[in-house]
Amino acid sequence: MQGPIVILTGAGISKESGLDTFRCVDGIWAKVRLEDVATPEGFDRDPDQVHAFYNDRRAQLGDPGVEPNPAHHALAELERRWPAEVLIVTQNIDDLHERAGSRNLIHMHGELLKARCASCGQTVEWHGALGVTDRCASCGRVGAMRPDIVWFGEMPLEMERIYRALETCALFIAIGTSGHVYPAAGFVQSVQSIGKAHTVELNLEPSEGASRFDETIYGPATAAVPAYVSRLLARGG
Ligand code: APR
Repeated sequence: MQGPIVILTGAGISKESGLDTFRCVDGIWAKVRLEDVATPEGFDRDPDQVHAFYNDRRAQLGDPGVEPNPAHHALAELERRWPAEVLIVTQNIDDLHERAGSRNLIHMHGELLKARCASCGQTVEWHGALGVTDRCASCGRVGAMRPDIVWFGEMPLEMERIYRALETCALFIAIGTSGHVYPAAGFVQSVQSIGKAHTVELNLEPSEGASRFDETIYGPATAAVPAYVSRLLARGG
């Protein structure tokens, strides 16, 4: 098998880099209500609380020790060495795939290091704290800047490009995702319905969708992902 690969990643791939997942026992949604910080209604209700939530997570990306881990690096190596396209579709809003060297990457839930003007739609790089007093550099509006993150009830990004890749891939790999949130949780079904690709789940434990995968491998991403990539490259695709 040497065809195109689509890799879906979730919070689990960044866990061993020191970033929290959402639904593990000590996860983010055990500490804060997603309705308050990850919905348009929550932002309308209390923008300061939402900004504080994402400002903390954006600042954490700069913490010493928050670095790409061997799983991120293994995927970047696969992209460099695989004879066909390797596309990473990440649900994560961190920048660890980029910092590991991955280039062919879609952040379907947006990015912590970007901000968007809710008034004119302009998106800009944003590395510091974001707040209600910030002005849009494009339209000049004050108070309309929001994290460039896809909240619950909003449409994930680049879905057409993602489904085209799912239709043509020969291998679909899901890494570090619980399979709770659609449309990402349904990608394996989309691939299975076309019937051409092999599907693999690499996770700490079985996800909600585990039974839909042809192959499942469990263990920490920093062990399971490099081992799987090495085997894939050794087989020459
Ligand atoms: N290695 C591999 N997998 C791990 C590890 C690890 N070290 N630690 C945890 N996991 C697994 C967990 O078993 C779980 O299945 O990672 C998964 C994380 O699941 P979630 O916390 O639900 O994260 P994710 O699937 O990315 O959530 C999807 O939900 O809240 C929204 O927008 C948010 O993008 C997020 C989406």
